[in-house]
Amino acid sequence: MKKILVTGANGQLAKCLIDAAPKSEDYKVDYLSRAALDITDEVSVLEHFSSNTYDYCINTAAYTNVEKAESEQTQAFLVNAASVQFLANACKNQATTLIHISTDYVFDGTKSTAYEETDATNPINVYGASKLKGELLLSQTMEQYFILRTSWLYSQYGHNFLNTILKHLAAGKDLTITTEQVGTPTNANDLAQCIWQIIISETKAYGLYHYSNNGEATWFDFASEILKVSPLLSNSKLAKTDHYPTFAKRPKKVSFLQQK
Ligand SMILES: NC(=O)c1ccc[n+]([C@@H]2O[C@H](COP(=O)([O-])OP(=O)(O)OC[C@H]3O[C@@H](n4cnc5c(N)ncnc54)[C@H](OP(=O)(O)O)[C@@H]3O)[C@@H](O)[C@H]2O)c1
Repeated sequence: MKKILVTGANGQLAKCLIDAAPKSEDYKVDYLSRAALDITDEVSVLEHFSSNTYDYCINTAAYTNVEKAESEQTQAFLVNAASVQFLANACKNQATTLIHISTDYVFDGTKSTAYEETDATNPINVYGASKLKGELLLSQTMEQYFILRTSWLYSQYGHNFLNTILKHLAAGKDLTITTEQVGTPTNANDLAQCIWQIIISETKAYGLYHYSNNGEATWFDFASEILKVSPLLSNSKLAKTDHYPTFAKRPKKVSFLQQK
């Protein structure tokens, strides 16, 4: 039997992992919310690992509010960087494979073609910088890890662009959506399947990987698609803007190489 820890269990990706988990007694999964295991508490992390052993730890816990991170830099770095080090230390001690999720925001978005794993990073906001630091601390601490950089996650769960747009459409609101950024919306359910596949396959091809769905879109394109397939048959109208003011700078264009 494989024992697996999932951190950040109330988040959108963790909920998708629960839905996609293999229905087999060969896998025993502890899904721990922030209340059950606060990854910023190094002592709690070490204590938890001293009384439990795991084959895999999937770290979905993160500080994900890109806007607030600009004014809460210390907290963003504590959750997205220092705490990843705590988990890496604990995992290394018991040869647990750490599967960690990172972001396309480690790039500055100035490359016109798809970003590859070997491309130079250059985050332009606090969130991206804190996630990059987490990647570096992890890769300097242990070898048995997978870092999966993903982009524009959406799902039926939590706060994400899809759910925000659906809420506004249901309220019949007209919306103005930015065309400033290009990226790849990625279904968190697909990422969850990918993570389980890593575990089920027992692959030892450790390292850093880019994972997204295929294609490219602006947020306006994404909203237009949501409106098209929305079962609400909303009367809302969508308008474009090429300038939507935000606290955090955003990379202009990031996409990953298409999956075959
Ligand atoms: N969302 C995106 O568009 C996107 C894009 C690229 C990469 N990612 C990465 O994908 C991963 C999953 O993101 P997501 O969309 O599932 O995020 P999410 O819905 O915001 O979930 C993150 C979870 O982490 C928990 N958390 C925060 N601080 C914690 C702490 N100190 N200890 C334990 N848990 C803590 C939160 O707890 P509470 O529920 O208590 O707040 C939340 O449930 C993250 O690493 C994120 O950086 C996300």
